[in-house]
Amino acid sequence: MTHKAWWKESIVYQIYPRSFNDSNGDGIGDIKGITEKLDYLKNLGINVIWLSPVYKSPNDDNGYDIADYKAIMDEFGTMEDWEELLEEMHKRDLKLIMDLVVNHSSDEHEWFKESRKSKDNPYRDYYIWRPGKDGKEPNNWESTFSGPAWEYDENTDEYFLHIFSRKQPDLNWENPKLRQEIYDMMKWWLDKGVDGFRMDVINFISKVPGLPDAPNPEGKKYVGGGKYFMNGPRIHEFLREMNEEVISNYDVMTVGEMPGVDVEEAKKYTDPERKELQMVFQFEHMDLDSGPNGKWDLKPLDLRDLKASITRWQKGLQGVGWNSLYLNNHDQPRMVSRFGNDKEYRVETAKMLGTFLHMLQGTPYVFQGEEIGMTNIKFDSIDEYKDIEILNMYKEKVIEGNEDPDKVMESIYVKGRDNARTPVQWDATENAGFTTGEPWIKVNPNYKEVNAEQAVNDENSIYHYYRELIQLRKTHPIIVYGDYDLILDEHEQIYAYTRTYEGEKLLVLTNFSEEEVKFDLPSDVSFEADELLISNYPQNGGVEDYNSFTLKPYEARVYKGK
Ligand code: NOJ
Repeated sequence: MTHKAWWKESIVYQIYPRSFNDSNGDGIGDIKGITEKLDYLKNLGINVIWLSPVYKSPNDDNGYDIADYKAIMDEFGTMEDWEELLEEMHKRDLKLIMDLVVNHSSDEHEWFKESRKSKDNPYRDYYIWRPGKDGKEPNNWESTFSGPAWEYDENTDEYFLHIFSRKQPDLNWENPKLRQEIYDMMKWWLDKGVDGFRMDVINFISKVPGLPDAPNPEGKKYVGGGKYFMNGPRIHEFLREMNEEVISNYDVMTVGEMPGVDVEEAKKYTDPERKELQMVFQFEHMDLDSGPNGKWDLKPLDLRDLKASITRWQKGLQGVGWNSLYLNNHDQPRMVSRFGNDKEYRVETAKMLGTFLHMLQGTPYVFQGEEIGMTNIKFDSIDEYKDIEILNMYKEKVIEGNEDPDKVMESIYVKGRDNARTPVQWDATENAGFTTGEPWIKVNPNYKEVNAEQAVNDENSIYHYYRELIQLRKTHPIIVYGDYDLILDEHEQIYAYTRTYEGEKLLVLTNFSEEEVKFDLPSDVSFEADELLISNYPQNGGVEDYNSFTLKPYEARVYKGK
């Protein structure tokens, strides 16, 4: 029996502040810009905002490199602006969850500045320092952002570990003093009134002792060392300690971002009995369209793989932990472009994907601009891209590695993180109403058709459809708590499932293709429809044909019955 909780019944909206709304004309989104849009968000129906980092940062990785955990980035405003945002949110019954980035800090953090001074500095062990091996890095791990995961520091003739950029040194969680500093900092924010944390790559904080080389059968220069730092030996201990010291003393939401987590491990992280976290962001469904060489190795998605993966998570966590539900965020391409047709069926696709996601068991996350169906971007030149991951990869593959630039650009068009980071399109005026200045990254040229003003004024828009989806979740406990069962496992175009709760049933039908597809309710599924809850095509409202009919391109229908 699943226990009820406010964070299970919530709908979270993610804000990537740099690209959300600029209030002062410097071309960069800011905190006052968010406050200006709270009524728009309230009207959408969401009740929690996850705010990507707004802390002081030199912006090597757009704020995921933090130089001071207790200060606000100048470009985003002041602590007073932040306090005003929180107050205005709480007035509207909106909760705020902050990004907690504590696998690493910025190399401009005071701790790191001290740490690099000398081997006996009191802050030395706040980070992970090692001598070189045979005149090279201490091990063969590759950074997520290309190149080695180690940087040499002349001053003390040692290397420091950075799983991400060289300006993001990894913190040493083996050091109890460091852990205490982090807990104190978390309490400081919670005492200011924040309602929880999204924890950045939190399953990276425990590394395998000895930091061994990763197997390297192809003899590459550097290789992914993931299994030595993802879900490491002390991870559950650290999270339980954090829970005991901090989280358990507050009624807050926690979600841990966890690349490389599987269902069995996620059960441990999210089982309330174990007192660690409430939810994890898992990546399995984000990796299904990648080939063996990782993210940039493009592969078409097979819907059956998506079904198998989502179903494994739905069934796996049911009655044990809790799922987070997402199809895009600031690190992933826009969902309409990735999973559907972002041209002639853009609106249908967005509504279908929203239906698919919001009817699953778990807490749904809406990424800014998703509610108006924003799409991927294609810049002509690499110079127009801003993301460190993209730029480092391009340098390594094209400039140093002689790979075909067109092929690499194609992979950026499909998978690059800047797809998600173009400014939110508020209206049809210059720069989509995002800024009166020069935007830090170019606006998607489709803003004249795709923008929030248009969407709010059009009752058939994606925005209004999302409002309906969100309202349904609030009025039908079955959408939150019902058990999930997949039907039509092997169908290549239709994703269909049921939800069951206290004598009621939902039938969720979604067509993931641009063809018309015949649906027949399998004879072993017992379902009798009473009502059509929602659909992305005009219907007559009745339930006459629910068990046998033709789904239109990207059509979605949800029937309620028993
Ligand atoms: C995950 C964040 O979502 C991403 O944007 C960032 O680059 C890395 N963690 C490093 O903090």
